[in-house]
Amino acid sequence: MYYYRLGKIPPKRHTQFRQPDGSLYKEELVSSEGFSGIYSNLYHIHPPTRIKAADDPIAFGPKKINDYTLRHIHLNTSNVTATGDDYLSARKVLLMNNDCSISICSPRKRTMDYFYKNAEGDEVLFIHDGKGTLTSQFGKLDVRQGDYIVIPRTVIYKIEFEAGPLRVLIIEAASPVETVKRYRNQLGQLLEHSPYCERDIRPPQELVTDTSKGEFLIKIKKQGYLHPYRYDHSPLDLVGWDGFLWPYAFSIHDFEPITGRIHQPPPTHQTFQGRNFVICSFVPRLFDYHPLAIPAPYNHSNIDSDEVLYYAEGNFMSRRGIERGSFTLHPGGIPHGPHPGTVEKSIGAKETHELAVMIDTFHPLWPTTDALEFIDPKYPMSWTDQAEGFNEVNTP
Ligand SMILES: [Fe+2]
Repeated sequence: MYYYRLGKIPPKRHTQFRQPDGSLYKEELVSSEGFSGIYSNLYHIHPPTRIKAADDPIAFGPKKINDYTLRHIHLNTSNVTATGDDYLSARKVLLMNNDCSISICSPRKRTMDYFYKNAEGDEVLFIHDGKGTLTSQFGKLDVRQGDYIVIPRTVIYKIEFEAGPLRVLIIEAASPVETVKRYRNQLGQLLEHSPYCERDIRPPQELVTDTSKGEFLIKIKKQGYLHPYRYDHSPLDLVGWDGFLWPYAFSIHDFEPITGRIHQPPPTHQTFQGRNFVICSFVPRLFDYHPLAIPAPYNHSNIDSDEVLYYAEGNFMSRRGIERGSFTLHPGGIPHGPHPGTVEKSIGAKETHELAVMIDTFHPLWPTTDALEFIDPKYPMSWTDQAEGFNEVNTP
């Protein structure tokens, strides 16, 4: 991430910065990894510590299935139009471990009458369908279809969507979510061979300074609960901020694919990194151009990672029975690969229009009880030719 600022800030940090009435603005340092990670300095009208009430916590979180059989999983969420009422209650965590969780979220309500703060995880929203505005202490950020929205923990925000189809993939991370380290130089700038650069990253554009008083609810997520905090002033009471820590958008459509003469492995598609997991973007691209190239992927034994793919758009050449909005989980320990017939069929193909998000974890994932309703029971046998009753929808 890079240095950015919005609004008014004093020329030197930790010095007197006065409001028109002569009182001091209230400075707040928001820092990650203690004082060792990225940080920003925020300047409030009111003390961010002053609360009106802290109500009883409400249990909030998924139930994982500890003893799910080792098998490939296809979660077909393609027919889902609403997963719940609002932005929080509609979050259905489907897969999880101690490093990250993967959710689908299609709320009926398009607005929020409260603010939300995730106090324990960075969030990455992938906007599969939807358009709107994320409003946080850092300002307003446009949200568009195809965007990754990266929200560092403790950012207080609300998100409002316009009418129309709405489907959001949410990856919540126990660690900071960062750009890919091998694509950065020693000072943090994205390198020339990175699939994207700083110009592709959209910071908040318009600071909101809300001076109103009243009652403002912030639901704070931590340790399996939502903690309702009430303030008598708006949390959007900033006159300015600067630093490296802020929510941003990056469109998957701005990811420039790396291609080669022969099949390129998933790390060439890597977009973000977290502790013990990566996020990759599979975007429309030219296929391999060696005269004997096989564009379909090979069979693969990932001996120490679990691979999740979320299929967003296009035909998925190597998979049968997959639809727009499907997830597959190919766990470590058993091989996965192209479906029968798809390898020969891929030879000679020049390009793909697929769009998919991959989450590879380096510790095993568990399905949750919310995942059960989406499980395709035929998927584990789908590599067997003429599997009885196999779902052939969207076969390429
Ligand atoms: Fe794989």
